[in-house]
Amino acid sequence: MYDKCEQILISRESIQQRVEELGRQITEDYKDKELVAIGVLRGSFIFLADLVRAIKMPLSLDFMIAKSYVGTETSGEVRILKDVDVKVSGKHVLIVEDIIDSGFTLSKLVGHFEGRNAASVKICTMLNKPSRRVVKDLHVDYVGFDVPDAFVVGYGLDFNDMMRNFPEIRIYKP
Ligand code: IMP
Ligand code: MG
Repeated sequence: MYDKCEQILISRESIQQRVEELGRQITEDYKDKELVAIGVLRGSFIFLADLVRAIKMPLSLDFMIAKSYVGTETSGEVRILKDVDVKVSGKHVLIVEDIIDSGFTLSKLVGHFEGRNAASVKICTMLNKPSRRVVKDLHVDYVGFDVPDAFVVGYGLDFNDMMRNFPEIRIYKP
């Protein structure tokens, strides 16, 4: 399996540097606000762990699970399999995702929290594939890196639930 993912797209050092920058920016933008960071499992767990430690202020965090059914192609149906336990009403929600592709998952989650009276809802994604976007009006507030239309693994991202553990982001060629 290793020979299918030899090509490193983003090194561990570049990731660490970019996460620190995002953390600084988020700290600045949310100072004096009640921030809840919400990780979308499972892909975001490593990014979330690094990001929250780069945010220099107290915050709360929680996780949720969303599944998109791509089998039906254009419908892009997304179901929430696990919701957050934390109370979001009146708080500033930052949804933390591993990668945005079509945008269906995030657009569903943003609507979900807006409907629960969050004070604000913003998105922070480690990776963004703009060329693949279907939901054209999805506003992404914080992006680690724009990536080309290739399948990537590592730093939380998987292929068939494998390779999340790679410290860097690699291109997977089946
Ligand atoms: P979206 O709803 O199409 O934006 O789907 C985003 C989800 O698809 C992400 O949370 C990932 O789980 C998955 N995904 C999209 N592209 C990749 C990739 O290149 N590698 C691994 N997972 C991906
Ligand atoms: Mg995901």
